[in-house]
Amino acid sequence: MTEMRYEQLPDGGKIPVLGLGTWNMGGGMRANFDKDTEIIEIIQNAIQLGFTHIDTAEIYGNGHTEELVGQAIKGFERRHLFITTKVSASNLKYQDVWIALEGSLKRLGTDYIDLYLIHWLNHQIPLEETFRALNEVVARGMVHYLGVSNFDLEHLKKAQELSATPIVTNQVPYSLKDRSYDSNGVLRYCQETSCLLTAYSPLKGGVLSSSVVRRIAQQYGATPAQVALSWLIRQPKVITIPKSAKTKRLQENLGALDLHLAKEDLEKLDKLSSV
Ligand SMILES: NC(=O)c1ccc[n+]([C@@H]2O[C@H](COP(=O)([O-])OP(=O)(O)OC[C@H]3O[C@@H](n4cnc5c(N)ncnc54)[C@H](OP(=O)(O)O)[C@@H]3O)[C@@H](O)[C@H]2O)c1
Repeated sequence: MTEMRYEQLPDGGKIPVLGLGTWNMGGGMRANFDKDTEIIEIIQNAIQLGFTHIDTAEIYGNGHTEELVGQAIKGFERRHLFITTKVSASNLKYQDVWIALEGSLKRLGTDYIDLYLIHWLNHQIPLEETFRALNEVVARGMVHYLGVSNFDLEHLKKAQELSATPIVTNQVPYSLKDRSYDSNGVLRYCQETSCLLTAYSPLKGGVLSSSVVRRIAQQYGATPAQVALSWLIRQPKVITIPKSAKTKRLQENLGALDLHLAKEDLEKLDKLSSV
């Protein structure tokens, strides 16, 4: 079995560099119950293969994705798993954070969340109010780590000021084809501080059909997905959470941990832009 790698968290804890994304498992913005058994099995397969970090959100499948994750993790030792979920932008008022968290805990069938993220900023609700609740849920042990998602540099710094514990990650779109969070300074800031950048949608946006990626993959007897993921996780302070609902692809994606691209190939990939 491929050996997982980890990034260090500020308190000495660790987080796997490859996690399992769950968007569209059990529905998109609405719940879809059609493939429940299949999805539960896939998540269990993923854990058995080594994906102990699972990324979800209260909004996925309107809560149903969390329910499926909850069903899937039942037979596993909770302390061996790292569960990330997210509070929606519409639930960032003090009382709503508490209600949202209680809902996520219930659906996930757990009494704590490893990492709780603000999914999106809500300009109508002051971050001060949100962090009043978030700091309390951490103090109570209901959440172990706090993070944000889709935050620009200004708001990431603000969140860091307001959080009583370190903001351990900013989860943003970042891939060979999407460098917006590199251009806006967030990546460099994360690399200079103790905040990780969690790259979401690492395989989307034409990454897998890029001729450069395909050529490099062929050279190594690897797949385009492995090249795309390897390029991400060799970067300091970067972790990623590819989603697949196919066991074979889960295995393939884990194979990125064993792919070591030469400096000149990494440079070719660095230069690859969205144009
Ligand atoms: N914070 C946010 O706002 C935010 C936004 C978007 C996503 N996310 C999180 O990030 C996770 C990942 O992002 P994503 O789901 O948008 O995109 P992604 O992981 O880059 O791509 C998922 C797509 O790629 C396919 N795929 C997976 N492995 C593959 C492989 N080896 N070869 C070919 N195709 C492959 C999947 O299909 P199959 O399932 O059929 O294999 C699926 O269609 C999400 O699931 C979610 O947990 C967070």
